[in-house]
Amino acid sequence: MLPQSSLNQWLDKASSQLSFIIDEAYVEYVAQPDFVSAFVRIKQGQSHIVVCRTFSKLYALAGLRVGYGVAHPEIIKAMQAQASIDNANLIGCVAAKASLESPAWVSMSLAINAKGKALVNAQLTALGLSYLPSETNFIFHQVKGDSQLYMERMEQAGILVGRPFNHAQGWNRLSIGTLAQMQYFCETLVKFRELAWI
Ligand SMILES: Cc1ncc(COP(=O)(O)O)c(C=O)c1O
Repeated sequence: MLPQSSLNQWLDKASSQLSFIIDEAYVEYVAQPDFVSAFVRIKQGQSHIVVCRTFSKLYALAGLRVGYGVAHPEIIKAMQAQASIDNANLIGCVAAKASLESPAWVSMSLAINAKGKALVNAQLTALGLSYLPSETNFIFHQVKGDSQLYMERMEQAGILVGRPFNHAQGWNRLSIGTLAQMQYFCETLVKFRELAWI
């Protein structure tokens, strides 16, 4: 997680000629106490920032392809001039609206994510595999062996894990699902260790 002060310094010192897109895809998961959404800057009238949000994470609507951007009215107007009239699908919009109207969903989703992360983190620790701190719905963790082979073996076990990243060989990104799914993932990880695959 980027410290808020670093982001502030960067934004405050930037030339007024520069524009920023700030991706707040994981905003609902943030636990860092000094975090401030860039919405505040937009409310203050800053017109060089666009904030992106998505319903793909906490709201679990990734397949419906729905998200939104928030910016100064002038920027939105300029963007709208370039946008397709049908750039959001109706089912996605209805589901997104229902999600925003359901605080119970938000707290349930957050609680399941926290439990799933704790379960997986404990298993990784038990197996001596490192992981990075995460204020998201995924865990970036060590798998030791080849990331591509690991992904293929997980797929054979019925689990779709993240793709390899060139700069992080031997690591994998795992999205958190239901508790039953995470339990099955942990059992699979133990089997992989027995086979000396991780
Ligand atoms: C930082 C970040 N932004 C956005 C997305 C994807 O959002 P969407 O499904 O709305 O394209 C991801 C997905 O992994 C992400 O990690």
